[in-house]
Amino acid sequence: MQIQRVLVVGAGQMGSGIAQVLAHGGLQVLLHDVDDERITKGIADIDNRLLREVQKGRITEEQQHEILGRIEPIVQLTDARDIQLVIEAATENMEIKCGIFRKLDSILPADVILATNTSSLPITELAAVTGRAERVIGMHFMNPVPVMKLIEVIRGLATSDETYEAVEALAQQIDKTPVEVNDFPGFISNRILMPMINEAVFCVYEGIAKPAAIDQVMMLGMNHPMGPLQLADFIGLDTCLAIMEILHDGLGDDKYRPCPLLRKYVKAGWLGKKSGKGFYSYD
Ligand code: CAA
Repeated sequence: MQIQRVLVVGAGQMGSGIAQVLAHGGLQVLLHDVDDERITKGIADIDNRLLREVQKGRITEEQQHEILGRIEPIVQLTDARDIQLVIEAATENMEIKCGIFRKLDSILPADVILATNTSSLPITELAAVTGRAERVIGMHFMNPVPVMKLIEVIRGLATSDETYEAVEALAQQIDKTPVEVNDFPGFISNRILMPMINEAVFCVYEGIAKPAAIDQVMMLGMNHPMGPLQLADFIGLDTCLAIMEILHDGLGDDKYRPCPLLRKYVKAGWLGKKSGKGFYSYD
């Protein structure tokens, strides 16, 4: 199956980034969110990022307009016609995602592939609420989507080879590198990244060093582009905590226990960059 037209559900930071890279890769994109305002904001964000690409001389103004022209806003999911794939990038909440998957399953033809950009929710469980588990798959893009090369492609228990291969070909078409992963808590990316971030938070909690010192060690000593605490602020401390809880619940081992300081920050509303305060302050 060749994917040419894709519905992206969710026009936030991840969804708008996904719509952008798909349109950049020559695909037709339908962009949906719960209201007009969110879709308009998502498209404005894409336009701003494309404008920066024009200013850097990477694309022409004509290409900017062509890319944007391939993205069509839709407020009603029932307006999604002639698509081969849906990529869901809505709020990271199992109930919300199950609701969206049930609805998509009931309105779309049986051969349409349903992908989710979840960073840690179980693909197999989401597939089970549909009548097409063999056509359900995870496509985990990394933030910022236009910059990061990886897509973790997660196979649920029933995902077919045909579905995997169609998604793999699409990832290559949009100049990303797909990596095949089976469906277990945190997949590969967050199974490894989040315990590292959690351990960095324990270093602050136990008074081993200040956040800036911990980040400096990892940036200058291990060549990470951002230190773990700056990265945690960038991802969102609430998201980091939610993923640690999924690892702890799903795998059971004490090594996944979220640091009490991480819980305290989240309870205080210190969620990182998006709330203006986390391990660092943001104006
Ligand atoms: N959207 C698009 N482009 C962006 C961007 C954004 N939000 N942020 C930065 N960029 C681009 C810049 O325009 C710049 O492009 P050029 O080199 O082409 O000019 C490039 O990225 C580098 O940006 P800067 O020079 O401003 O800053 P930097 O060198 O510090 O890079 C960064 C920024 C790319 C974010 C880099 O710090 C980095 O790679 N950080 C780690 C990111 C990471 O680990 N992401 C994964 C997070 S985990 C996740 O997403 C999954 C999950 O489930 C939690």
